[in-house]
Amino acid sequence: MVDDKDKKLTISKIKEGTVIDHISSGKALLVLKILGIGPKTKEVVSMAMNVPSKKMGKKDIVKVEGKFINKEELDKIALIAPKATINLIKDYKVSKKFKVHLPKMVEGILRCTNKSCISNCEREPVTSRFYVYLKDNKVIAKCYYCNKKITDVDKYIV
Ligand code: CTP
Ligand code: ZN
Repeated sequence: MVDDKDKKLTISKIKEGTVIDHISSGKALLVLKILGIGPKTKEVVSMAMNVPSKKMGKKDIVKVEGKFINKEELDKIALIAPKATINLIKDYKVSKKFKVHLPKMVEGILRCTNKSCISNCEREPVTSRFYVYLKDNKVIAKCYYCNKKITDVDKYIV
């Protein structure tokens, strides 16, 4: 909700859970997917998409009550929203705040686009492994096994 008086965006505060702020605009739904939240889950979620941000121009925000995220979820969020801030909320207060960290390498969380890559072998599957880096503020992943580059990582998160 945008308050007309001071033009400040306000979404209700949460009592306990996680606020993911500074999400690259348009990625909020993907963040929910990564967290396994959908029509069949019970978490109370509020979110905002494409809201103005001084730092980012536009951003998304996701607030999930009663949810504390794990390392794998953090790595996945870093891949699609490398500027995201994680706020852990306890008793209405921000008890911890940190930025996601883009890992140098991710294992088992991206699928290689090269069909004949050893990580896509059906008989003896090898866990996928990608080097990850930023280029012009975009996340690039390069397969450890076959060197294939993925520039649209959103589509290949397992
Ligand atoms: N927040 C919330 N519920 C709470 C406390 C905080 O939903 N009980 C949200 C705020 O709305 C904000 C985020 O968590 O989106 C971080 O809160 P805070 O650190 O107080 O805000 P800022 O100082 O604006 O954060 P930053 O400096 O990271 O932009
Ligand atoms: Zn590969």
